[in-house]
Amino acid sequence: MYGALSMQGKVAIITGGAGGIGQATAELIIGRGGKAVIADINLESATSVAARFGDAALAVELDLLEEDSIRAMIAKVMGHFGRIDVLHNNAAATGADVVSADGAVGDMPTWVWDRLFSVNCRGTMIATREALPHLIEAKGSIVNTVSGLGLQGHIRSAAYGATKAAIIQLTRSIATAYGRQGVRCNAVAPGLVLTETVARDFPTKWRKLVEDETLRDRAGAPEDIAEAVAFLASDAARNITGQTLASDGGVSVHIPGFAAYTAAFAELAAG
Ligand SMILES: NC(=O)c1ccc[n+]([C@@H]2O[C@H](COP(=O)([O-])OP(=O)(O)OC[C@H]3O[C@@H](n4cnc5c(N)ncnc54)[C@H](O)[C@@H]3O)[C@@H](O)[C@H]2O)c1
Repeated sequence: MYGALSMQGKVAIITGGAGGIGQATAELIIGRGGKAVIADINLESATSVAARFGDAALAVELDLLEEDSIRAMIAKVMGHFGRIDVLHNNAAATGADVVSADGAVGDMPTWVWDRLFSVNCRGTMIATREALPHLIEAKGSIVNTVSGLGLQGHIRSAAYGATKAAIIQLTRSIATAYGRQGVRCNAVAPGLVLTETVARDFPTKWRKLVEDETLRDRAGAPEDIAEAVAFLASDAARNITGQTLASDGGVSVHIPGFAAYTAAFAELAAG
């Protein structure tokens, strides 16, 4: 029914699957015939997400800070489903404590830098390393969730941006090292995505700043990012590896000052 986009018979691990982008990705993959592992530090939410999909989903507790927890998660998936076709490295340290303290380098608390690198980068590397033998066996695919902040500078989020830039490079390294063994590795770089958390916590004034730079009429939704992830994870993307696909409504493609030019030309046209 979905042609090369079909996920029939495929098992996908989605880290950070208990909410936001990860949850939307799990739903889409299951909708296309696949099975999803909702692997998250928040087991309660992971369990309630998985419960919606019956046998097609499995909730597993995962703390990316703990190597043993990552190994145990992979073992549980193999014990339950017996294969791993897709690893979606999507979880990140997105807690308010970390996000609010992640400013510019001059004021960077060392613990914030360490936490972000430990969860985002080290976690992604270890999860990939532990899943690789199974991915090679299945000729599978890895999709990393990165961010526009890993591609462009900002006056805040220096640590977060550096982790995402590192994962973009890791994506190329993994693609290069394991491509001949049948494993592809790509990344999706979302712009602002209105997850429940962002819709609740992100100040409206800041949200408008991003929306003014967007070439659509609104910021992204988790389902928009899930579409890009599911495409890259599927056989439809069989010739694509090592790439970072921006799903940001065009925010990253235009000249600096786009919003200001748009307002200035509108003013001019109005006379
Ligand atoms: N929402 C956005 O605007 C946006 C923009 C660009 C990139 N992203 C990226 O998208 C991904 C998903 O973010 P989201 O917006 O859906 O946020 P989210 O907070 O809903 O999802 C993050 C998930 O990761 C889990 N998590 C946190 N620490 C963990 C750990 N140590 N071990 C295992 N799981 C852990 C959380 O419990 C949560 O379910 C992240 O990589 C984020 O950096 C989001």
